[in-house]
Amino acid sequence: MGQWVAVAPAQGFGPGEHRLGEVDGVRVAVFNIEGEFLAIEDLCTHDGGTLADGSLQGVVVACPRHGARFCLRTGAALSAPAFEPTACMSVRVREGQVEVRDERW
Ligand code: FES
Repeated sequence: MGQWVAVAPAQGFGPGEHRLGEVDGVRVAVFNIEGEFLAIEDLCTHDGGTLADGSLQGVVVACPRHGARFCLRTGAALSAPAFEPTACMSVRVREGQVEVRDERW
């Protein structure tokens, strides 16, 4: 199992915002969804687009390139043109830092 990695201070990380980080060599995007922090690999499985800048609707992010939608809770691809999930990461807040862990390792 991977290590917890601090990605951003929790303070000033408001609802609707996101932060980028790197965990075990994987680029991750962390989102604040109405006070809940959710993290996924910042990689659209359709053609490698960055999901961090996608539009949010609840816990769903739409890839800004061709519009594939992903669930931030599970990483599941919810609509074409993506069919494979992106990785979902665990998140916690410790000592004021939003920390992310990749459970795949
Ligand atoms: S790269 Fe994301 S939908 Fe095509």
